[in-house]
Amino acid sequence: MTSGSVMVHPAARVRGRVRPPGDKSISHRYALLAAIADGRSTIHGYSTGADCASTLRCLQGLGVDIREMPASDGAGLEIEIAGRGVRGLRPPAAMLDAGNSGSTIRMLSGILAAHPFRTSITGDASLRRRPMRRIIVPLERMGARITADEGRPPLTIEGTLRLVPLDFEPEVPSAQVKSAVLLAGLHADGVTSVREALPTRDHTERALRTFGADVALTAATVSVRGGQRLGGRELAVPGDISSAAFWMVAAAALPDSEIVLEHVGLNPTRTGIVSVLRRMGARIETSTVTGASADGGEPAGTIVVSHERLLEAQIAPAEVPGVIDELPVLAALATHGGGLSVAGAQELRVKESDRISALAEGLRRMGAEIEERPDGFDVRASRRLLGGDVDAQNDHRLAMAFAIAALGASGPTTIHDAGAAAVSYPEFFSVLESLRA
Ligand code: S3P
Repeated sequence: MTSGSVMVHPAARVRGRVRPPGDKSISHRYALLAAIADGRSTIHGYSTGADCASTLRCLQGLGVDIREMPASDGAGLEIEIAGRGVRGLRPPAAMLDAGNSGSTIRMLSGILAAHPFRTSITGDASLRRRPMRRIIVPLERMGARITADEGRPPLTIEGTLRLVPLDFEPEVPSAQVKSAVLLAGLHADGVTSVREALPTRDHTERALRTFGADVALTAATVSVRGGQRLGGRELAVPGDISSAAFWMVAAAALPDSEIVLEHVGLNPTRTGIVSVLRRMGARIETSTVTGASADGGEPAGTIVVSHERLLEAQIAPAEVPGVIDELPVLAALATHGGGLSVAGAQELRVKESDRISALAEGLRRMGAEIEERPDGFDVRASRRLLGGDVDAQNDHRLAMAFAIAALGASGPTTIHDAGAAAVSYPEFFSVLESLRA
């Protein structure tokens, strides 16, 4: 996934319609819950990204029967999963490989905590550097035994039939940690609760309801009772707003641009990008086509973004969890004009790369004025980028963010490791070429 350089030329404007790939976060959750549900599930519009393929490969390694077909309407993949029922996963014959996917290893660990056998999971060089104590601590408190390499993968998880429920408040705002605990809690003997200081994406809570579980929500706490069974479902995954964000930013950045994004997920825990882009001067209209439903369905609709002007903006710590994956491309927008200051985003340092230093290094090599801080960065829009040679450092979101910054440079930009984009958006570079007006 690391190979390949791509040269991106500047663009005067971008125009067109795009249906982004299926949401990565939702795809992982639907696959995981389908695997432990009773009966068969069909998932339409499953993400084409390599991360979601890693989830399917890990589930197959645990005895789950999965069929994969290209979708009949050409949008994403169609997946059929034969659910094995609660605690129905089988001991794997070999070490599982989560590839580049933090969501896979963390959320699957929550499920494996309830299976009374030993599973080892590793990943690529990036995943093997990422912190896992955040899930090891709560899952061990619930009764699982987990060994790691100084808190990093490979993980060996020894699950148990006697999981105890937990009241947990994660130290960092993280939907992956919340989800790992809730998925273990679904198998525990009592009610497990997770309290969040700052709200994170709620796809697991919704997906649990969609598969038939009761989930209790209060302002900052989500609780699940153990021992509930899930039922197989037929589901559609909306497009990924974090992938759509690259086109939203391109349209916001370049004069005379307009992009229509179709069938995009509009879950309010993910639409922080819309408010930030408006503050940064973009014109945005959203219209909901599919509303959220009482059974946990995800809202989806159309987003139309056009360029109006570029304004300077700040992102404060409380806003960070809602735009955590979009911060690199928002920094790219700030290089086109306006500027951006981000604080409270130290989590970026433990993503697929150290996204603060790798972002600063790449944008600086293109000619940007960017200052790095332990918990964020300041981009000053003092001059036009020149272009040049940048390294995506095996990080999909950086590969794509650099491409969007490159559109505003005076010369071409070569992005090394651009193939990393396939982790969430394999079609990214061909869509980019189709949008040059
Ligand atoms: C995700 C949660 C976020 C996000 C990641 C996907 C999820 O990570 O950055 O891309 O699907 O739950 P954290 O939970 O580590 O903040």
